[in-house]
Amino acid sequence: MSILIVYDSIFGNTGQIAQAMADELSRTHDTRLASVQDARTLDMSGVDLLIVGSPTRGFRPTPEIQEFASRPDLAGAAASFDTRIDLETINPAPLRWVVQAGGYAAERLARELSEQGCHLVGEPAGFEVTGQEGPLKNGETERAAQWARGLVDLLPRTEGP
Ligand SMILES: Cc1cc2nc3c(=O)[nH]c(=O)nc-3n(C[C@H](O)[C@H](O)[C@H](O)COP(=O)(O)O)c2cc1C
Repeated sequence: MSILIVYDSIFGNTGQIAQAMADELSRTHDTRLASVQDARTLDMSGVDLLIVGSPTRGFRPTPEIQEFASRPDLAGAAASFDTRIDLETINPAPLRWVVQAGGYAAERLARELSEQGCHLVGEPAGFEVTGQEGPLKNGETERAAQWARGLVDLLPRTEGP
């Protein structure tokens, strides 16, 4: 199975999550990892599973990854993830409600991918940072690897690596 993970990352946290997914999936599948900048010129044909990730900024994905997710040549199985702030680290507490109610990048990306005709696999996932610029909360890279493995397990098996 051919897997492509495309991500954007300002401070590096989403990149770390994407890398953890790539490390896990490349043990058993042909897996490529591309920043959203590098993905601009990528040929999307032959991709069996596309995973798209972004930091949540202002309740939404970055404009660059949003643009990628609206490419008309996307098709097939796809999933999305984001990084987001751990609500417990936000003060004062009423602000937590605002951040939560505003929504997150992964859900918006999933909607966009679906509108492009992709078939969504699994649920959009959020991985938490403990401050505006990170670091990632403990255990999030391991959870990301597990989430990515779970996506592959949802797909029909194909021959080869
Ligand atoms: C300008 C800005 C806006 C942000 N908006 C949100 C937000 O709406 N919701 C949220 O959960 N986190 C928000 N964050 C925290 C980001 O999600 C965090 O910076 C991101 O996960 C880091 O990922 P990166 O290292 O890949 O850039 C914001 C951070 C910045 C700097």
